[in-house]
Amino acid sequence: MTARSAVITGTGSSVPERVVTNHDLEKIVDTSDEWIATRTGIRERRIAAEGEGVSKFAEKASREALQAAGVDPEDVDLIILATVTPDMPIPATSCALQHALGCTRAAAFDMSAGCSGFIYAQSVAKQFLLSGRCRHVLVIGAELLSKYLDWSDRTTCVIFADGAGAVVMSEGELPRGVLATAMHTDGSMAAYIHMPGGGTLHPPTAQTVEQGLHFIKMRGNETFKIAVRSLEEVSLEVLGQVGLTPADVDWFIPHQANQRIIDAVGSRLGIDAAHCHVNIDRYGNTSAASIPIALDEAVRAGKVKEGDVVLMAAFGAGLTWAASVVRW
Ligand code: ACO
Repeated sequence: MTARSAVITGTGSSVPERVVTNHDLEKIVDTSDEWIATRTGIRERRIAAEGEGVSKFAEKASREALQAAGVDPEDVDLIILATVTPDMPIPATSCALQHALGCTRAAAFDMSAGCSGFIYAQSVAKQFLLSGRCRHVLVIGAELLSKYLDWSDRTTCVIFADGAGAVVMSEGELPRGVLATAMHTDGSMAAYIHMPGGGTLHPPTAQTVEQGLHFIKMRGNETFKIAVRSLEEVSLEVLGQVGLTPADVDWFIPHQANQRIIDAVGSRLGIDAAHCHVNIDRYGNTSAASIPIALDEAVRAGKVKEGDVVLMAAFGAGLTWAASVVRW
């Protein structure tokens, strides 16, 4: 008898049309293309237009993923949207998505786990598929971080950007599927990456806006060191769960936060750059969207093939970190 598993059956992605280069940013803050490129690996990013909400990109990515999976919207049982930048606080953006896609039978909720959101959502989807409660789950990571950026703060505005990626996860059979997942949280470092205003603690008022509480703030340098260590540990943990090692990894799809973080983690794990899919140069840090966008690119480019071992690992606000290992 074959064992039930949760298989990624389709991927999709969508980014805004507008490209903002490092040279464009040189004109608005005290920075340089050289600093941004060498310290982060970013050369350009996509920024949404005024009036565009995150659901627009989540919808397009989801349509692509459903089409690739050959799954009818009405057959989707559950939608999990990982985002820290919803269209609005109430209702959940996943509900707008459910309606727009015509996933009339699907329950839908948003998930907030910073840049780890997509892997967190993948872990939850896996449980629903393994328990037999769902046959098809739509998992999306989508962010418009530009909407919460202080364009006079060079420590954040050069880094964060916009986009969406989606996967359909379906009931399947081993050896294919999400083999293992791991999720971690350490709330003692919540202030390292946060946006203090706009919630119930500091509801939006003229004063909170004047104080800039609605902008993302990050203690980047302290976060950097913890990110490298945590990404290495969680990657080894998740591979170890299924008796694999970094040498078994065909494709490493890390969260695209910083090229130097990706290089450091790859070198600690002993995964060659040729086995790592990177697109931070073109998209910047799109938080929960970064892994599914990179995964979709790697799949559509024909890099990821059936039977490949794919390792995904993320780190972000919370602090949270998570990883998954998939047999494609
Ligand atoms: N242009 C020019 N100079 C800059 C810029 C800029 N855009 N930003 C900062 N600097 C300056 C600083 O002011 C500082 O100057 P000083 O030495 O005179 O004080 C100098 O550059 C070095 O600053 P650091 O903060 O030490 O730079 P660092 O090398 O650490 O790079 C960065 C900063 C890119 C943010 C890096 O720390 C990083 O990537 N951190 C990890 C971020 C991360 O992984 N976040 C988690 C995911 S995000 C999420 O969950 C939403």
